[in-house]
Amino acid sequence: MTAISAESLVKHFAADIKAVDGIDLAIPEGQIFGFLGPNGSGKTTTVRMLTTLLRPTGGRAEVAGLDVERQAHEVRRQIGVALQDAGLDELQTGRELLHLQGHLYALSAGDIKPRARHLLGIVDLEESADRKIKTYSGGMRRRLDLAAALMHRPKIVFLDEPTTGLDPISREAIWRYVRELNRDEGATFFLTTQYLEEADRLADDLAIMNFGKIVAQGTPKQLKDSIGADVITVHIEGDAAETARAAAVARELDGVEDVRIVDDTVTVYVRDGRRAIARVVLLLDQANLGVAEVSLAHPTLDDVFLRKTGNHLEPDAAVTGTDGSEAGGREASA
Ligand SMILES: Nc1ncnc2c1ncn2[C@@H]1O[C@H](COP(=O)(O)OP(=O)(O)O)[C@@H](O)[C@H]1O
Ligand SMILES: [Mg+2]
Repeated sequence: MTAISAESLVKHFAADIKAVDGIDLAIPEGQIFGFLGPNGSGKTTTVRMLTTLLRPTGGRAEVAGLDVERQAHEVRRQIGVALQDAGLDELQTGRELLHLQGHLYALSAGDIKPRARHLLGIVDLEESADRKIKTYSGGMRRRLDLAAALMHRPKIVFLDEPTTGLDPISREAIWRYVRELNRDEGATFFLTTQYLEEADRLADDLAIMNFGKIVAQGTPKQLKDSIGADVITVHIEGDAAETARAAAVARELDGVEDVRIVDDTVTVYVRDGRRAIARVVLLLDQANLGVAEVSLAHPTLDDVFLRKTGNHLEPDAAVTGTDGSEAGGREASA
């Protein structure tokens, strides 16, 4: 069964603001689906349409087999939603919030307490469950949000940037809970993120958004494999002209499939990176170009994004180190 589908889904806020510009989705039940894209690429607008909070300008979408416009009411009963800017009542306790959520969804009185306790346990909030929300950290609030979205056992859960702004440890914790809830409750998760590591580690399938359009879609592995090459990153001493000259030199090398310049970094996609790296450095040296830094890695989702759009996904990914790890690639650690 398809949990979420969209055909040519469009949202224009004005003639010139094409927030979502014709996207197609077919997300099977039980998946963790990652919706990856930079700020302003249309992630929240998509979530708001799929969760019936916003009317599409065009196209159609179904959630749990129900039309989001014509059957909005029924859709809402099937889904759980944790929005980016959830307004929590500061004076409530975490447990009270979950109980309230249970009442809103008309769970039976006998069901609400154990359900809340179970979810508080999963998101590691049982110790703080009876403290007021105003005393919670950002990470605790996100975890509570996640539990609240799950309270009525929705089949499909939408999480809009559940880890943005969190420290790496809190982020890892959220990933663990999402995986656990996906496995134990069988719910489908639609999760938006700006973090490529999050999409890579968590998503079964993902779509990469840019300016309201899906620029790539597949499993993280398929997308990285689609690059079909290793990635050599070269940082050249000197100005933009030197960098451009270095890119031209790299283009002449055998086995090079693509060369991209972003800021002061040259990215070279090449068949056999291990063999090519020494020759790249040699050729640059012969051309009197100073190599400040060079690294070799397997493709990351950032390379996929760069290939498709000409830009890096995460601003800090432009400056990269060499860790040479298999899966980690060249992601800048936050
Ligand atoms: N209510 C609105 N009115 C006008 N423009 C909007 C509105 N909501 C979002 N936008 C614009 O639509 C684009 C996509 O926004 P959004 O879906 O929030 O992106 P993301 O969640 O990926 O950061 C942005 O250019 C944003 O400024
Ligand atoms: Mg958003």
